[in-house]
Amino acid sequence: KKRIVSGVQPTGSIHLGNYLGAIRNWILLQNTYDTFFFIVDLHAITLPYDAQQLSKATRDTAALYLACGVDTSKASVFVQSHVRAHAELMWLLSSVTPVGWLNRMIQFKEKSRKAGDENVGVGLLTYPVLMASDILLYQSDFVPVGEDQKQHLELTRELAERVNHLFGGRKWKKLGGRGGSVFKVPEPLIPPVGARVMSLTDGLSKMSKSAPSDQSRINLLDPKDVIANKIKRCKTDSFPGMEFDNPERPECNNLLSIYQLISGKTKEEVAEECRDMNWGTFKSLLADALIDHLQPIQVRYEEIISDSAYLDGILAEGAMKAAGIADATLNNVYRAMGFLQR
Ligand code: TYM
Repeated sequence: KKRIVSGVQPTGSIHLGNYLGAIRNWILLQNTYDTFFFIVDLHAITLPYDAQQLSKATRDTAALYLACGVDTSKASVFVQSHVRAHAELMWLLSSVTPVGWLNRMIQFKEKSRKAGDENVGVGLLTYPVLMASDILLYQSDFVPVGEDQKQHLELTRELAERVNHLFGGRKWKKLGGRGGSVFKVPEPLIPPVGARVMSLTDGLSKMSKSAPSDQSRINLLDPKDVIANKIKRCKTDSFPGMEFDNPERPECNNLLSIYQLISGKTKEEVAEECRDMNWGTFKSLLADALIDHLQPIQVRYEEIISDSAYLDGILAEGAMKAAGIADATLNNVYRAMGFLQR
């Protein structure tokens, strides 16, 4: 079976962008692939954060994965920091990653600009190397993510190729290894619709956990009335009817795409259904669809989060399975890089 890995940071609350861009696709993929879904807590400390909140956010995120439909009889769910190989491989990879590659990362530029010099730790710069470790440790074939992670995936691929070139093949064989590639070169899986869910208050910027206004996003755990209110107040325009793909109507395109995904209808069906609606009619249709879709997720979430023994068991089992694979890769990397075997 081909292998898939992916993860979400336990920072802020998980929103519709995370769900439509990533988590929802995991659910579809877990039936066909060998899947590992982690909560990337080590990534969540790269900007100033509240230590009192981290473990709760980590659990909440795990519970949401399950509530959204990650099925632990098929997929392994674990916490990144519980598998030590992630941090360890990161050091090995850091040493062969050109700083220039990291300086080019758009997310680093954006986040460091927003955070201000004093708050930019080295970890924010080396963040993509940790992400590469998350992926390469599992010899993953595919990584389902939203559009904003594309550049990080490209870096992961380049890094895998660099290590294979520097340390793989005959050189590795001479050191007693199996030869061939040290790492499999993974591919991103970016969905055709939903890869870039936009803000409710500005159709030109993406929905994000860190946007100051909560009005800009739908969180998966928002209560009914909050969802209805956010949709009611979201940005509109003064064109008649509703249509996809009009560059002058980014908000309209975004909300129709959300409706398409949430309702499970095709683009053509949605275009047809909504063509003659006014904003008011469409907004109440969308709000109802969102509430119907998210309510069962919220009910399951409450059940799961209240049973901490169950959740801890899932996470322990997931970490054990993951560590088995990750440790084997890590040992190979140590050997290929010429370290004395323990
Ligand atoms: P994070 O936590 O920012 O986001 C989690 C996932 O949600 C997707 N996403 C979106 N998709 C569509 N529209 C949006 N507005 C939107 N906002 C976020 C992201 O693309 C992502 O798939 N670095 C990663 C986490 C990570 C990871 C990994 C992912 C760490 N290691 C290894 C895959 C494999 C991140 O910060 O995602």
